[in-house]
Amino acid sequence: MVVLGIETSCDETALGLVADGRLILGTEVASSLKIHQKYGGVVPEMASRAHVEWLTLELETLLGTTGVAPSQVDLIAVTAGPGLAGSLVVGIAAAKALAIAWEKPVVGVNHLHAHLYAAFMGAPDFPLDLPLVGLVISGGHTALVRTEGIHRYHLLGQTRDDAVGEAFDKVAKLLGLSFPGGPEIERAAYNGNPKAFRFSVPKMKSGSLFDFSLSGIKTAVLYKIQDELKKQTTNRASPVTDRHSLDAGFTADMCASFQNAVVEEVVQKTVLACRISRVKHLVVGGGVIANSHLRERLLEACRDSGFQCAIPAMNLCTDNGAMVAGLGYHMSPAPLSTIVGRPDLPVELN
Ligand code: KG4
Ligand code: ZN
Repeated sequence: MVVLGIETSCDETALGLVADGRLILGTEVASSLKIHQKYGGVVPEMASRAHVEWLTLELETLLGTTGVAPSQVDLIAVTAGPGLAGSLVVGIAAAKALAIAWEKPVVGVNHLHAHLYAAFMGAPDFPLDLPLVGLVISGGHTALVRTEGIHRYHLLGQTRDDAVGEAFDKVAKLLGLSFPGGPEIERAAYNGNPKAFRFSVPKMKSGSLFDFSLSGIKTAVLYKIQDELKKQTTNRASPVTDRHSLDAGFTADMCASFQNAVVEEVVQKTVLACRISRVKHLVVGGGVIANSHLRERLLEACRDSGFQCAIPAMNLCTDNGAMVAGLGYHMSPAPLSTIVGRPDLPVELN
């Protein structure tokens, strides 16, 4: 069974053709990132316009390169939420238009479930009905869930403030690095000392043991940058206020220390969640799991604790159409009128 996946929840316009839930026949992805870069974050209106412009072009290319004819597509899967309202609408409208033109059924997919499903795509030894812990870490979301299989998710903990990817993006901005900040911080961190600055995560007095809070680290980074700029000012005639003039060594140390603190916080909470939930398997999804240091530390911690961990292939970490098509294969089609954009769709719902 061949499924066409359509993903337009944020700035990536992504398509994927997947056979039987796992075999990727082809993917197309274009990001409007360059357009947003000068604003330091995604501008929703511009992202929606880019989806409108690129979706049909990408579809033509995907069908051309894979040699799959519309008649060979059995199902259309589209991201229904969570995401930017205007961006979701474009993907959903496209899915419905294709469904009518090609006479195909449609399923609406939870973007967060699709991120976790991306890990299953490369782990055929993980049955889909296994009780396991899932960790979603993206630009918009941070959630630890316990799953009873790919259709039922129970929330264990989530972020109280910034999502992990959002924290990377904001700290990168403070340091004068470009958007999106995650890959920039990872790159700069290679040359830095992870112990140069110490960041501690405050213990939370209420809520879940598995909730995350990263705004404290972000504020600590801001203060250290302000101190550094003041230090530079005392050595010069005019005040230094431009973050781009921060010393490369300072930036590298800050990136390495910040990355290390966040990674340890994520690893420690995730391993604890597996232990307390008494499961032996972990799946991880979302753009931040593209971070090599996090991948290594999670795999290492799981090995040490006797858990099996599935992480998506690099090309399936950030938003893509294959994960949507893959998950869609396991879902039942719904009437077109019931498929609507749900910008705040929680991780517990399908
Ligand atoms: O899953 P995704 O593509 O979009 C959302 O659903 O949000 O995730 C994008 C997020 C961004 O915040 C980006 O900075 C982060 O993933 N990211 C990374 C890395 N690559 C992408 N964060 C840390 N290290 C990376 N290498
Ligand atoms: Zn995503």
